[in-house]
Amino acid sequence: MSAMAVPEPGHPTLAGRVILIAGATGGLGEAAALACTAAGAQTVLLGRRVPRLNRLHDRLQAQGAAPALYPLDLEGATPDDFADLAARIGSELGRLDGVLHVAAHFDGLTPLEHTDPAAFARALHVNLTARWWLTQACLPLLRASGDAAVVFAVDDPARVTGAYWGGYGLAQAGLAALVGMLQAEFGDAPVRVTGLVPPPMRTPLRAKAHVEAEDRIARDPVEVAATCVELLSEAGRPWRGQLRSHAAEARA
Ligand SMILES: NC(=O)c1ccc[n+]([C@@H]2O[C@H](COP(=O)([O-])OP(=O)(O)OC[C@H]3O[C@@H](n4cnc5c(N)ncnc54)[C@H](OP(=O)(O)O)[C@@H]3O)[C@@H](O)[C@H]2O)c1
Repeated sequence: MSAMAVPEPGHPTLAGRVILIAGATGGLGEAAALACTAAGAQTVLLGRRVPRLNRLHDRLQAQGAAPALYPLDLEGATPDDFADLAARIGSELGRLDGVLHVAAHFDGLTPLEHTDPAAFARALHVNLTARWWLTQACLPLLRASGDAAVVFAVDDPARVTGAYWGGYGLAQAGLAALVGMLQAEFGDAPVRVTGLVPPPMRTPLRAKAHVEAEDRIARDPVEVAATCVELLSEAGRPWRGQLRSHAAEARA
């Protein structure tokens, strides 16, 4: 089942690890799926659109990998659905060593006063609650790994808790808190939790924000995918319980 790509010497390796990528068909998700595969991981690709998952599968298969696909819409998925996902990973792949959360729902900048109540609830659910439910269901497998990482992509809370970011922005503040809260509860358990705060990236999500100043500085998600690999690998240990901004250094 494992990917056949050989990681370059000196680069973080994910050889022998099973990594679940939630949001694998997004801008960062796809780049991360390719990078994790190149680093030697067996990936499980979660996305809601089967044709996009199939296209990504074919790209990875052309590189000699055999990713597992898991179509699931995080909006409608229940805790039982996440338990089924974890059970399938356990029975078919035997282990789980990392979860990368890069699925995100964003409708665009809107004043709270004019936000449809259902859209507000959806943004909080997909961006925060579903991420936690998925993580919670996977914890027994992650604890058994011996060195597991949960990495949440978090949009800079200092930026997205300003005007018009709505439920998406509030969810990011919640995610930032979740990283510290979970790690405090896990203590020295072999499961580490990290928040990755990417720079503005050229993806469909950023295009919905219409922040013109970001057009000049937006990065290719491929650059950020390398950081995802690092945080999922042993090299991510110094970032236990922390938020990592792109190119930042861990606190001692
Ligand atoms: N782009 C930026 O500038 C930027 C900056 C800071 C932080 N981030 C964070 O980086 C992460 C990745 O964002 P991105 O820029 O790669 O966004 P993106 O290209 O829009 O990808 C988001 C992914 O989430 C999936 N998704 C949305 N709703 C879903 C649902 N209900 N169920 C399952 N999947 C769902 C989308 O699926 P479909 O493919 O089916 O639409 C898409 O694959 C996010 O956590 C975001 O908050 C991004």
